Amino acid sequence: MNLPPIDAVPGMVEPAEWDLLVDSAMSADLSGGASVVEFGAYFGRSTRALWTGLLDNDGFDPGRKTALLHTFDVFSCVESGYFAAHVRRDAQAARIGHLLNARDGRLDFSGAFDHFARQMPHSNLLERHIASLTDARHDGSPIALMHVDAPKFYDEYLLVLRHFAPFAKPRSLILLQDFFYQWSATLIAAVMLLVRDGIFQPEETAASTLMVRLRRPLTPEEVEDFHRRYLASDVDTLLAAAVDFFRGFDMDRKADFLPRLHLAAVQYHHERGHHVRAAEWLHRLCIGEQLMGIAAARDLCDLVACDFSIRRFYQLDTAG
Ligand SMILES: C[S@@+](CC[C@H](N)C(=O)[O-])C[C@H]1O[C@@H](n2cnc3c(N)ncnc32)[C@H](O)[C@@H]1O
Repeated sequence: MNLPPIDAVPGMVEPAEWDLLVDSAMSADLSGGASVVEFGAYFGRSTRALWTGLLDNDGFDPGRKTALLHTFDVFSCVESGYFAAHVRRDAQAARIGHLLNARDGRLDFSGAFDHFARQMPHSNLLERHIASLTDARHDGSPIALMHVDAPKFYDEYLLVLRHFAPFAKPRSLILLQDFFYQWSATLIAAVMLLVRDGIFQPEETAASTLMVRLRRPLTPEEVEDFHRRYLASDVDTLLAAAVDFFRGFDMDRKADFLPRLHLAAVQYHHERGHHVRAAEWLHRLCIGEQLMGIAAARDLCDLVACDFSIRRFYQLDTAG
């Protein structure tokens, strides 16, 4: 396979995640008109990795009549926010600043995605949807592979479960980017509940990504039942279960990424004013388990710099 360089498209997935995306798209079961779904495309780096794998998939059919890859993103953010600075910097570095569109207080970056998408062969089979997760809906085809790189919070992840998980093929793969992430506490907790239920089977990690295999599809009724049980469960207990589980798991760069689970617990409690419990988790990380390395220290600085909360910025950026 002739791999395009990862930095051909500005973006946030790193090389290990790129490789995992390519490999899983190459081996996805595309039979029965199945499609691949992505949430969170940004300028399309991960989309290109998926496309690179799909072009090499034995089931790739250039003559198919419906889109093979659906990618959803709000494709805009608040014009003056932190994310907008990131968008502008990436666009300028790639010399495509003129493709950004500032209007009514928002910065639209769909033109940057389209610019890179058009460079890919058979891009007519790639459909991008400008939609928030609240509005995102599936076309009804079986889903062979999902890449989830938008929500860091349970509330948004629930929307993916509600509107997409019932279409997933049995034994299909779900790649959860930013699972090992200090801002993902409620997402980590929900995924752990699905692991405990025997629905998700963790297979591999790459940087912050957790790849799980769906043991069986969830019916809409099961999703609602899961939601009730999530609301009745204790996030702290699920985060502790995640630490226990992944401590014994063969992880990519465990010293850098396992502490993010502890830091997610620190963030979760601090944001809710449970400062004693936040300190207990920090104590466990630094003194009890002595896992605080340079990477974790940097992640802690990120939490402190944002006063342990990004929810309000996230909501403004993704309001569409
Ligand atoms: C981390 S970036 C994705 C990076 C991308 N996968 C890459 O390879 O570079 C997250 C993206 O998700 C989108 N996003 C986050 N929350 C969303 C939501 N609730 N609805 C729609 N898009 C969302 C953002 O606009 C952003 O482009």
